[in-house]
Amino acid sequence: MSQLVIKDLHANVEDKEILKGISLTINAGEIHTIMGPNGSGKSTLCHVLMGHPKYTITSGIITLDGEDITELKPDKRAQLGIFLSFQYPQEVPGVKYPNFLRQAKNALLAAKKLPPVKIPEFVKVVKEKMKLLKFPENFMERAVNEGFSGGEKKRAEILQMAVFEPKFAILDETDSGLDVDALKIVAKGAMAIAKETQCGVLLITHYQRILNYIAPNFVHIMVDGKIAKTGGGELVEEVETKGYEAFLTTQE
Ligand SMILES: Nc1ncnc2c1ncn2[C@@H]1O[C@H](COP(=O)(O)OP(=O)(O)OP(=O)(O)O)[C@@H](O)[C@H]1O
Ligand SMILES: [Mg+2]
Repeated sequence: MSQLVIKDLHANVEDKEILKGISLTINAGEIHTIMGPNGSGKSTLCHVLMGHPKYTITSGIITLDGEDITELKPDKRAQLGIFLSFQYPQEVPGVKYPNFLRQAKNALLAAKKLPPVKIPEFVKVVKEKMKLLKFPENFMERAVNEGFSGGEKKRAEILQMAVFEPKFAILDETDSGLDVDALKIVAKGAMAIAKETQCGVLLITHYQRILNYIAPNFVHIMVDGKIAKTGGGELVEEVETKGYEAFLTTQE
């Protein structure tokens, strides 16, 4: 069974310490949610897990299935099965979406010494997943994220997750900016995909409403670069009623 382990992780941005000792173990198929105030380091954790060069790990270790990946480049991590959905997805003008999906998928397969996808089968799979996420068909004619609405960009991120079949998916506020119907489609779609592939999920969110569709195994409250508390769904209620103030004084 796959396992992503983060041990006492400290990380800096421009010499400022943002992550101050994060420890977290995610097993295949588990859903972990992180909530926390703006600026507490949630996106930083996501970027550090993916190996973004702007962030320096000063101590601690990240392992994937026992292998130390702390120093690996982002493309290597992707090849090993880590997927990050960005809080602010980038546009890639001129690159048609299906070509992007296919090339990225082929790169992942090539890293495993597997042959590239067969185009008709691949198109079939993509269309199936698009249906699950209720994408309009004309979406395939468009360039990556170019002119996509905020909600379409988030949906497109989950389509990538469906196609790339990662071992672990890090979803940074994939629910933000979605209307109620889109939220339901994206949240349910992401969960169906995770269940089907036994993918472990780390979901960053500010909103209780996504948890109408996603039942996390663990909820972590992150305050000032540390996990202040870990629990179940009841922690979300606690945040809604008390805010984060209550967690500032209960750091373990
Ligand atoms: N590339 C960067 N350059 C400078 N400062 C950064 C950078 N990335 C993060 N920081 C700082 O690190 C702190 C944590 O930011 P981060 O984006 O991780 O917070 P967050 O918990 O994701 O917040 P939000 O809920 O608003 O998304 C902030 O003070 C932010 O300004
Ligand atoms: Mg963030």
